[in-house]
Amino acid sequence: MKKIVFATNNAHKLQELRQMLGDRYEILGLADIGCHEDIPETADFIEGNAQMKARYVKEHYGYDCFSDDTGLEIDALGGEPGVHSARYAGPGHDSEANIDKVLDKMQGVTDRTARFRTAIALLQDNEMHMFEGQVEGIILTERHGTGGFGYDSIFRPIEGDGSTFAQMSPQDKNRISHRGRAVARLIEFLKNQENN
Ligand code: IMP
Repeated sequence: MKKIVFATNNAHKLQELRQMLGDRYEILGLADIGCHEDIPETADFIEGNAQMKARYVKEHYGYDCFSDDTGLEIDALGGEPGVHSARYAGPGHDSEANIDKVLDKMQGVTDRTARFRTAIALLQDNEMHMFEGQVEGIILTERHGTGGFGYDSIFRPIEGDGSTFAQMSPQDKNRISHRGRAVARLIEFLKNQENN
């Protein structure tokens, strides 16, 4: 079976991809290839970070690789936190602090439109392929729900029944989410390749 690296240490993401592609590819995480260092993510756009990670794995470990990067883009904040979503409130701060910063900046703001966007970079046989997924929504004025992670409790997708991502089951979220859509495009591409 072909080996491919998913440049992540997130066990949940790995498991998800293995369930979807495990019959075609042996999907290795960063720990599986002995990559324990922090891979630089210094690009100005999520696409650049995804590509950087995929290239790093190819250059240092020799494997074909795919990598994802996600940002929450809030229109009234000029697209922030965007590529800085993970550390919006500064290094050492958690998701709760990131949410507090967003809510603070959005106080009194009426245009609350936003989107999550995921970019996936697949470096395969020295060719880079890009896949994107996004979901439109609005930023609420306070947290709703306790599930999910990151900014889920303040993001209400336009599609759906009015729940935030934090109020949805993982299955319902995956069906419409930025990452779910980007992953679906990656999988379609890899499956088509196998059929040709
Ligand atoms: P990553 O590229 O998947 O690590 O995502 C970067 C950051 O975006 C995370 O640290 C979260 O703050 C945020 N984020 C990514 N995906 C989601 C999501 O599905 N819900 C809420 N926040 C997310």
